[in-house]
Amino acid sequence: MSQPLQKALLLQTKQGSFAVSTIPRPLSATPGELLVKVMASGLNPGDWKVKEYGWFLADDHYPAILGADVAGEVEEVGNGVMGFKKGDRVFFNGRSGKQSEYAGYQQYARAPADITVKIPARLSYAQAATMSAGLNTAAIGLYAKEPIGLALNPDFDPDIKFSGKAALVIGGSCCVGQYAIQLLRYLDFSPIIVYASKHNFDYLRNLGATELIDRNEVSPESLATAAKSRTLNAIDVVFDAVGSDETQQAGYDALLNGGKMVVTMFLSQIKGKSDGDGKKVLGVIGNVQREENREFGRTIARKLSNLVKEGIIVPNRYDVLPDGLNGITEGLGRIKNNKVSGVKLVVYPQETA
Ligand SMILES: NC(=O)c1ccc[n+]([C@@H]2O[C@H](COP(=O)([O-])OP(=O)(O)OC[C@H]3O[C@@H](n4cnc5c(N)ncnc54)[C@H](OP(=O)(O)O)[C@@H]3O)[C@@H](O)[C@H]2O)c1
Repeated sequence: MSQPLQKALLLQTKQGSFAVSTIPRPLSATPGELLVKVMASGLNPGDWKVKEYGWFLADDHYPAILGADVAGEVEEVGNGVMGFKKGDRVFFNGRSGKQSEYAGYQQYARAPADITVKIPARLSYAQAATMSAGLNTAAIGLYAKEPIGLALNPDFDPDIKFSGKAALVIGGSCCVGQYAIQLLRYLDFSPIIVYASKHNFDYLRNLGATELIDRNEVSPESLATAAKSRTLNAIDVVFDAVGSDETQQAGYDALLNGGKMVVTMFLSQIKGKSDGDGKKVLGVIGNVQREENREFGRTIARKLSNLVKEGIIVPNRYDVLPDGLNGITEGLGRIKNNKVSGVKLVVYPQETA
């Protein structure tokens, strides 16, 4: 019997172009894995960076399929997998690389069962497709043990609190930043100072921001001073979701000696950085399919459903792009050109013409 076909968005060559193509579906579920019919996929800035700069993938990974935020319906359950059945609604962190079957920009994908989460009843597929890349990046960076994270709460222990300690989130409206705010709120940081555009302030207050700084009024160069003026306490923790040279510098300057900062991009040359001040700067890599993150990914998978059910963590807001996988190229262009503010872009791969 010939292998069934599916539609997928292929990045055909390194720094080449995207094209929707018809290719074989991933094979039936392998032991320890699920075969998932992809109902919604979230877009990430990393995808346009892979395309433009050729980052992360080796030459022999092309044609490549991208897509790190995947939500769908379990089609088949592999041997040895407990706790899942055909028809379950699930989401997981997609992965690109040598095996494109784990990525989200296709109609069927393989999912490692140990890091796959059942979608709580009140969430849609689109909402679930906002919850892997952003949340995993924020959770690893803030909660996981060193060396992958700042170790603030490796077991999601509800009794661990940082009451009276101040935190700063740079880029609070970023999808990742929204989860960082919520995870800092869970730890009772106060104040939680957030740098974002004013039109997002009310939404960010609902997520846990207590002090807001308008990025259109305060430049990154003035941010450290502005942030410190919003708290009686020195700033213990910074989460820089933007990760530019300017924001990393601002975050570092805002920290108290001995404070800790997570950055979502490659680390910059920070001026005045010295070992003597005890400040720790950590670059996070958020994908839980990576070997070094896998164990903590299992912890997230175990804890997340309840945190979402209890409303402690809410998904990003989202906009659905038309035409299934055909909408991704234009959507990534919008992200690249800073035309997306405070929402996740999502496609429905089954609607691909
Ligand atoms: N290390 C990893 O594993 C990992 C994982 C995921 C993402 N990332 C990286 O993390 C970054 C954020 O990703 P994302 O998906 O969260 O992005 P996103 O949601 O697409 O970010 C869009 C938001 O960025 C905000 N923004 C842009 N420049 C800003 C600045 N100078 N100061 C404050 N806010 C700014 C805008 O806020 P306003 O609308 O409020 O102005 C906008 O809402 C990207 O660079 C991405 O590549 C890294």
